[in-house]
Amino acid sequence: MPADFFWGNSVSSMQTEGAWNIGGKGKSVYDVREATANSSDWKVAIDEYHRYEEDLDLMKEMHFNMYRIQVSWSRCNPTGDGEFSSEGFAFYDRLIDAMLARKITPMICLYHFDMPLNLAKKENGFLSRKTQHAFVRFAKKVIDYFADRVKYWITFNEHNLYFQEEVFNISGYLTGEKTVAEMYQIFHHTMVAHAEIDEYLHANYPKLLLGGMLAYEEIYPATAKPNDIFAARTIQEFMNNNLYDAFATGHYSNEVMHFIEKHKINSDFLPEDMNVISKMHADFLAFSYYRTDVVNADKIPKCTPPNNYLAFGVESNRFLETNEWNWTIDPLGFRNVITKIYNRYHLPVFPIENGIGLREHWDGVNQIEDDVRIKYHHDHIKAMKDSIFIDGAKVLGYLGWGLIDIPSSHGDMEKRYGAVYVDRTNHDLKELKRIPKKSFNWFKSILEKNGDEL
Ligand code: BG6
Repeated sequence: MPADFFWGNSVSSMQTEGAWNIGGKGKSVYDVREATANSSDWKVAIDEYHRYEEDLDLMKEMHFNMYRIQVSWSRCNPTGDGEFSSEGFAFYDRLIDAMLARKITPMICLYHFDMPLNLAKKENGFLSRKTQHAFVRFAKKVIDYFADRVKYWITFNEHNLYFQEEVFNISGYLTGEKTVAEMYQIFHHTMVAHAEIDEYLHANYPKLLLGGMLAYEEIYPATAKPNDIFAARTIQEFMNNNLYDAFATGHYSNEVMHFIEKHKINSDFLPEDMNVISKMHADFLAFSYYRTDVVNADKIPKCTPPNNYLAFGVESNRFLETNEWNWTIDPLGFRNVITKIYNRYHLPVFPIENGIGLREHWDGVNQIEDDVRIKYHHDHIKAMKDSIFIDGAKVLGYLGWGLIDIPSSHGDMEKRYGAVYVDRTNHDLKELKRIPKKSFNWFKSILEKNGDEL
């Protein structure tokens, strides 16, 4: 593997930091969500705010050389559009300096569904242009602040989810019914924000690198019937190609634009937006990859917009094993995605989230033997190497998701991704002790040799 290949961990703020009401932090939409029978609240997470030195030591021991963090909007800019918080920035100062001291390269993501509560209430989030402008203002401030120490940047986590209901259901920040037009409006506002940040970053800091990021799900047709193949292709066009085309070449997909115009939901797509989008140029294309899905066109009601096809048409894949949450395990799908992206765009590809959620409990004595996780990462890393060495793709690195346990996107501590166990449950914080699992030693041994022996 190349000597400068990145191996590491990837997280969001609200799933790791805790410290929800200290250090000058304002509230985000997550901070007002209560625990349920199957989930925790978001107040403490794994308390990385206070334990980052210990967590970075564990990452270093596994030979990680990159950590993708998020700089939380509401920690640095409590109302989202008002005064910045020097205390908020000071936390990330400490965190980033601690990474650099360990030769761990930081990657910053600027948004991970955690809308500042004030903007959620006042503006209904990215439905409003005011939120778009506020986000760009926040992003510029963070870029100016950390440009001397952080080279790798991402704007929106999983940018293709911003016109799916799912993201709003997870974060729960939008109120009222969302029409198709509104979903596209939100998506477009986030894309214009990305384009403005792209322009600013490249004009002012030519050495910094900015990537667009998607949740890249490979979609298989349920059968060889042309309508299944058509549905699978259409989902790819709307959910993946449309955004990567914009990041890489500066224009939305022709098919998607035609859909938007035909349904008259383009009133908010202004000429000046298209102008700034046309100037975009991604330095790398990043994505999360966990699983693949199958679509059955017969299940999709007529008139469903393509961005919702999967919500109706999804079907299980009898050829693949799954975890307890029915997420398929598909390493070849991973290779397929990497190779496909590189073939299409000839830009460096960066898988920045990968992993498997498993239910695990520590008995207080014995090491957790997470062989299923070891196999998952082993097979995915091997598939990535095939993509590099057989298919010729250029890949910057491989980041696992939540490799020190964190609550799931739904706040569930029962679904763990870590190579390190964090001792807490949904309703009992215990001591939040960190306990390496068997996969910790596995990462340590394979990364000591830069993954060469896989
Ligand atoms: C990604 C998100 O979609 O998947 C993370 O960026 C999330 O926030 C991860 O935690 C895994 O999903 P889940 O639902 O298993 O936590």
